[in-house]
Amino acid sequence: MGNGNILVTGGSKGIGAEIALELSRSGYDIILHYNKSSTSAGSVAEACRKNGSKVAFVSADLASSNGIKDLCNQVRKLNLKLKGIVNNAGSGAGDDISRLTEEVWDAVLTINAKAPLLIIKNLLDLFEENASIVNMSSLASMKPIPSSISYSAGKAALLNITKSLALNLGPQIRINAIAPGFIETDMTAFFRQNEKIYDNIIKRTPLKRFGKPQEIAKIARFLISDDSSFMTGEVIVADGGISIS
Ligand SMILES: NC(=O)c1ccc[n+]([C@@H]2O[C@H](COP(=O)([O-])OP(=O)(O)OC[C@H]3O[C@@H](n4cnc5c(N)ncnc54)[C@H](OP(=O)(O)O)[C@@H]3O)[C@@H](O)[C@H]2O)c1
Repeated sequence: MGNGNILVTGGSKGIGAEIALELSRSGYDIILHYNKSSTSAGSVAEACRKNGSKVAFVSADLASSNGIKDLCNQVRKLNLKLKGIVNNAGSGAGDDISRLTEEVWDAVLTINAKAPLLIIKNLLDLFEENASIVNMSSLASMKPIPSSISYSAGKAALLNITKSLALNLGPQIRINAIAPGFIETDMTAFFRQNEKIYDNIIKRTPLKRFGKPQEIAKIARFLISDDSSFMTGEVIVADGGISIS
C-alpha cells in the first residue's frame, strides 16, 4: 500500500490484532505472525485487506529457539524489505517462587525477551532506511507481579534490550517500547472474572477501567510512524494511571 511492510508478531488476537488493523488503516502492508490462532489470524488478515493492505502470513512458536529461526526463515522467503517490526507476541505463567520451574523460566524469557532480540538481529539486513521497531513490554517490567516472576523479568529484559538496541541501531533504525497496564484481552480474562481482583485494580486505577487493545494500537502506530521521528530507546507507559496511585 506504499508505506512499507511491518512484521507484527502475535497479530492473531488481542493487542496484536488491533495493531495490525491500525497499521493497515495507516497505509502499511502487514506480515502477520500467529502461533495457534490460525482462524482468528485469517479474520484479522481479511479486515486488513479490506483496508487496502497486502497481508502475508508467518507462523511459529516463539517460545523456542527453533521457532524463532523458523519465523526468520519464513520472513526471508517473502523477499520483502521491512519498514518495521512490532514485537508484540508474549505470554506469561503463574509462577510465584513455589511454582517457578526452569522450563517455565526458559519458555517465558524466550518469548518475551530472546525472541524479540533475535528476530531483530536475524532480520537486520532486511530493514529499510528510517525503519522503526516497537517492543511490547509491560508495566510488570517496572512493577513486578509477584505471581509472575518470569514474565516480569522477561518484560524488564525487553525494556533494557530496547535501550541497548537504540544505542546500537541509530541513526538508521529507531526502537521504542510500550508498557501497558491492564488491557481487555484474553490475557487478563482471569483478572476481570475474579470480582475481588477486578475491584481492587479498578479502585487503584485513576481512569477507573481496563484499557482497550485499540488504545495500545494507536501508540504502536505512532511509534512506527515518522510522527515519533525524534524518539528512540524510549518507553511509553499506558496504564490508566495505576502506576502512580
Ligand atoms: N493484556 C494486557 O493487559 C497486557 C499488559 C501488558 C503487556 N501485554 C503484552 O501485550 C502483548 C499482547 O498481549 P495480549 O494481551 O494481546 O495477549 P493475547 O490476547 O493472549 O495474545 C497473545 C498473542 O501472542 C501470541 N503468542 C502467545 N504465545 C506464543 C508463542 N509461544 N509463540 C508465538 N506466539 C505466541 C498469540 O498467538 P496465538 O494466539 O496465535 O497462539 C497471540 O497472538 C504481549 O506481549 C503481552 O505480554 C499485555
